[in-house]
Amino acid sequence: MSMSSEQAAEYKRHAAELAAEMVEDGMVVGLGTGSTAAFAVAALGRRYREGLRFVGVPTSLATEHQARELGIPLSGFGEHERVDLTIDGADEVQRGTLNLIKGLGGALLREKIVASASDRLVIVADESKLVDGLGEHSLLPVEVTPFGWEATARRLAEVGAHVSPRRSRAGDLFISDGGNLILDCHFEGIDDPAATELAIGSIVGVVESGLFIGMASEAVIAGPTGVARLHV
Ligand code: 5RP
Repeated sequence: MSMSSEQAAEYKRHAAELAAEMVEDGMVVGLGTGSTAAFAVAALGRRYREGLRFVGVPTSLATEHQARELGIPLSGFGEHERVDLTIDGADEVQRGTLNLIKGLGGALLREKIVASASDRLVIVADESKLVDGLGEHSLLPVEVTPFGWEATARRLAEVGAHVSPRRSRAGDLFISDGGNLILDCHFEGIDDPAATELAIGSIVGVVESGLFIGMASEAVIAGPTGVARLHV
């Protein structure tokens, strides 16, 4: 059943606020990117004002800006080797495995760096993001170097992708926070996400793909019947 954007926003907020309750005093917390993660950052800002003490590691410039406005102290990998808990959104969450597609918000590289250093990655989403197979609804974003991106796009086509370079509203090539481009790849379903990640990752010019395999430890999914906490 399709949901209105107001309903979806309410479910996103519900999932995000529940995940924000998982943060404990003294934690290093990965702060995700996107409309759902923004609800979690807002809830964490409220908890910080109420006395909870933690530091945040933002996954994008947008999240960094939001966290600073809320007074959340920020840190990074110079100070901390590991992140205790990251709360982030996703574009698709595969039932059972919790494998993910991320990056429609353009922050996949930082998100993946933070996720890979996290003891727990908790994904927050509305129910429309749950899929049986990755690639069912979402494009797969792939971050690539600006130099030679057309050649990289051809290599991606050879592994089965229909490739479109992401553009800004003004029609220019979209530039990520890391100064790279994003190629949005359409696959006719991704039957073997781990093999696809490996194939994409071995292409010269690819910085990272939006496939997050075996990284999420939990997903908090909200919908009309309530909130479900899914574990691998
Ligand atoms: C950004 C992301 C986002 O987490 C993902 O696109 C989900 O966004 P939203 O919560 O707005 O639906 O991966 O790079």
